[in-house]
Amino acid sequence: MTQPALDMCALPDRSRGEVGSVIWHLQCIASTNEMLKRLVHQGSAWHGTVIVADEQVAGKGRQGRVWHSPAGAGLFCSVLIGPLDVSLTYCLAALAVRDAIADVVDMRPDLKWPNDLLIHGRKVSGILVEQVRQAAVVGIGVNTNMSEDQLATIGPEATSLAAVSGKRIPHTDLLKFLLERIQEQYIRISQSSESVFRDWRRALVTIGQTVEVETSREKWIGRAVDVASDGALLVTNDKRLVRVYAANVRIRS
Ligand code: BTN
Repeated sequence: MTQPALDMCALPDRSRGEVGSVIWHLQCIASTNEMLKRLVHQGSAWHGTVIVADEQVAGKGRQGRVWHSPAGAGLFCSVLIGPLDVSLTYCLAALAVRDAIADVVDMRPDLKWPNDLLIHGRKVSGILVEQVRQAAVVGIGVNTNMSEDQLATIGPEATSLAAVSGKRIPHTDLLKFLLERIQEQYIRISQSSESVFRDWRRALVTIGQTVEVETSREKWIGRAVDVASDGALLVTNDKRLVRVYAANVRIRS
C-alpha cells in the first residue's frame, strides 16, 4: 500500500472560522471540488473547510478539461471560502497559491489570466472556482512531484515544482503555507477587496501581451490591455475592445 503523501498531524490546529479549521484528507477520490460541493449541499461544510486528496480519478480543470491527478504527484485540494464573489475569489486564490509556492521553492510563479500559475512560461498550477449558494469552492491543483513521463502525458505546456527546483516537494509544508496564505488574503479582502484586486492585476503577465483567444466558436488574436473589475480580460482587436470571460488565452511569444 502506498504511504499517504500528507502528514496531517504536522499541520497546526486552526480555530473555527479560520481556513483549515476542518480538513478532510482522502487517499483517492473522484474530485475534491465535487466532494466539497456535496458537503455544502448537505450543510456539512462551512467557510474554511478543506478537502485534500493524494489522488483524483476525475480531477476537473476549467472549461471541461481534465486535471491530471496521479497519486502523490500533485497537491489536489478544495477550500470553501465566503460568502465571496467568484471573480474576487480567483484573485485571492491566485495570490495565495503564488506566495505558498514561493514559500516552498523560493521561486515566484507568474500569474496568467485568469487562473494559471507559470514558472518559466509553463503551467505549474491551476485554480477552478465554482460557486455554491453564496460561497466559493476553490479547487487548487499544483504539479509538485510529477515525473518527466507524467508531465509528458499532459503536454509541453506543463511543468512541476520538482522539475524546476530539482527537489522533492513535501506536500505537508505546501498545504500548511497554502492555508496560511489563503487565510491572509481572506483577511485582506475583508478589509479592502480593491487592494487584493490591484495586486492580482499588477501580477498578471498577460497584460500588455499579444494573445490568442480561443473559444468553442472562434479563435482570434489581439492585445490584452487590462482587466475589468469583474475579472474580464480586456483585449483590443481591430480597434474594438472585447471583454473576454471564458476562453483559452495563450500568450504569443
Ligand atoms: C485549471 O487550470 O483548469 C484548473 C485546475 C483545477 C484543478 C483542481 S485539483 C483540486 C480541485 N479538484 C478538481 O477536480 N479540480 C481542482
